[in-house]
This record gives sequence, C-alpha cells and structure tokens, in this order.
Amino acid sequence: MDDLPQHLPAVLDPLRADAAALGFTLSCDARTGALLAALAAARPGARVLELGTGAGEGAAWLLDGMDATASLVSVEQDAEVQGVARRHLGADPRLTLVTGDGGAWLEAYDGPPFDLVFADTWPGKFTHLDRALALVAPGGSYLVDDLDPVPGWPAGHETDVRRLLDELDAPPGFRTVRLAWSTGLLLAVRTGVSEAAAAA
Ligand SMILES: C[S@@+](CC[C@H](N)C(=O)[O-])C[C@H]1O[C@@H](n2cnc3c(N)ncnc32)[C@H](O)[C@@H]1O
Repeated sequence: MDDLPQHLPAVLDPLRADAAALGFTLSCDARTGALLAALAAARPGARVLELGTGAGEGAAWLLDGMDATASLVSVEQDAEVQGVARRHLGADPRLTLVTGDGGAWLEAYDGPPFDLVFADTWPGKFTHLDRALALVAPGGSYLVDDLDPVPGWPAGHETDVRRLLDELDAPPGFRTVRLAWSTGLLLAVRTGVSEAAAAA
C-alpha cells in the first residue's frame, strides 16, 4: 500500500512554493498532515492548538479537516516564516495566528483547553511539556512528530528525544501510542470524561 495521502489541500502547492522560496524546509510530512486532518475531523467544533506554525503546512491540513465551527490557534516565533501561512491561510476566520515565543504563550495562556494539540516546536515538546499536556481536554489528543533520528540532528537532540519518549511513555491521565511511521510520531489521548458528560 502506498501510504502517501492521495488528496492534498488545494492551498498546499502555492504555500509550499512560497516556503521553498524562503528556504524553509521544516514543514510536516504529508502523512502527518493527513493524520492531523483526520484527528481534527474527528471532533466537530474542535479547539485545536499548533505550537510552531512554520510556513503553515500543518495548519493547512488541520483547517482542511476541521469543520466550520472548529478553531485553530497556531503560535510561531519567526514572523517571516509565519508570513507564508498568513498569506495563504490568514483569511480563514477559524484561524488565529500568534507571533511570539511558544513557551511564553504557554505560560501566559489561561483560556479553555484544546481537543487537539500539535506540538511541533521546542516549547510544548522539549520544554513546557507539562503545560502543553495540561491544556489537553478530556478525550483530547496531543501529537508530536519528528521522533525518528535523521542525519544532521544537532548534538544532544537524540538524548532530548529519548527523554521525551520516556516522559510520554505513561503520563498520568493519558493513553499513549508510538507510531513508527511518517517521521516517527507519538499520540497521547487524555482519559476521563468531559464535565458535560459527568454532569449528565
Ligand atoms: C517543525 S517547524 C513547524 C512546522 C509546522 N508545524 C508544519 O506542520 O508544517 C518548527 C517551527 O517552530 C518555530 N520555533 C522554534 N522555536 C520556537 C519557539 N520558541 N516558539 C515558537 N516557535 C518556535 C520555528 O521557527 C519553526 O518554524
């Protein structure tokens, strides 16, 4: 079976061209993108958080899967790179693009939790992990990618990834699954019932 997605969001071609023109090479793998779209589609009205917008490839997949009532907040520190996402996706009213440090954003955020958190940068993954997990709603999901080693990883990164895998092996209140697929993924789902279900 060919596991590459057969149908890509229409915006991806022009978005990728602009990302390439900037020399940005860190966009998510298309398989991961397809999974993001499916996870977003599983939750009508989903509240989605992406840490590390990059040029917007993950956001394009998420928006493609989300329904009209869902919303996505995406945080990125590099305004120029995020500018690609802003140009191609910024008119979508479901999307809020935040320009700034993801760690500072995680520390300051005091709004409701998210149904899906895609942690695709340092904060929320290698730092501020507890804070990112705390923002996952009951039944919600936390996804990280890029866990398989690749040539050119900076010194110490493999150790960081091993530590992250250990920390995410069995975090209290989550069920996790490792996926040796795409760039190496880990999905953690918060157990427990929502307040609404508990009150019913
Ligand atoms: C792997 S890329 C994101 C790719 C994107 N999520 C996608 O799916 O295409 C990681 C991004 O995190 C950004 N970044 C690095 N450190 C950051 C920080 N402390 N806060 C916010 N963004 C950061 C980088 O500029 C880069 O664009």
